Amino acid sequence: MSMHAPSHDLPLMFVEAGILAGEVTILDNISLTLNAGAPTVLIGPNGAGKTTLLRAAMGLIPVTHGRITWGGNETAAPARRAFVFQRPAMLRRSTEGNVHYALAAAGVPHGQRYDRAAELLTLVGLDGFGSRPARRLSGGEQQRVALARALARDPAVLFLDEPTASLDPHATKAIEDIVSNVAARGVKVVMSTHDLGQAKRLAGDLVLLHRGRLIESGPAAQFFADPRTEEASKFIAGELLI
Ligand SMILES: Nc1ncnc2c1ncn2[C@@H]1O[C@H](COP(=O)(O)OP(=O)(O)O)[C@@H](O)[C@H]1O
Ligand SMILES: [Mg+2]
Repeated sequence: MSMHAPSHDLPLMFVEAGILAGEVTILDNISLTLNAGAPTVLIGPNGAGKTTLLRAAMGLIPVTHGRITWGGNETAAPARRAFVFQRPAMLRRSTEGNVHYALAAAGVPHGQRYDRAAELLTLVGLDGFGSRPARRLSGGEQQRVALARALARDPAVLFLDEPTASLDPHATKAIEDIVSNVAARGVKVVMSTHDLGQAKRLAGDLVLLHRGRLIESGPAAQFFADPRTEEASKFIAGELLI
């Protein structure tokens, strides 16, 4: 599998970007640069704007203020991005069928799909699950199918919205291992989580959002050791941001 981010997709930059829905400001004046390398993890309480930021970066919703650029370009091909939703829907097919469908949608030639699907199912630890109905898999297994489908596009940037929400520790560990593995292959992972421990385990960079505003961002080690804002200090200490 040729998983690597060509430099022209990154950096992904938010330049004074904002999103208004009617009168409501959902994202407010976000300036943020996402570079190649270890995962960027978005944290913040419910309603902070994490999902909206990910969706805007993917190009699923337009910004109403400012802009988002890819490698300095506002029109980079979205084919190089993939998105896994918080509650991914399985097609009414086998596990393998779900991945085949994604490979077909990604334009992978018919003759290569069988091998690629097997490779992807191995990557997400689902060897031997190929013929099972995807909708009968556990939540964690379905999340892994969703990851395999997203990787079928051979993305340069992979967006994951709370990929382990509602999973138990064992299933969470499996997903985190896949994320680390994919990141080590050169895919830029941009993900949200409400799990501070997960942010510590996975993040190269951290971004703290609160009420649609970017409170603090930077290398994870620095963020945890030496937060610069009161909000970040509180969040790290496990206090509620309200
Ligand atoms: N289309 C929309 N119209 C109005 N409000 C929205 C819309 N989408 C999201 N919101 C609101 O924007 C805020 C941020 O939502 P979201 O990005 O889902 O936050 P998070 O993922 O951090 O929980 C929430 O208060 C949510 O209700
Ligand atoms: Mg969300």
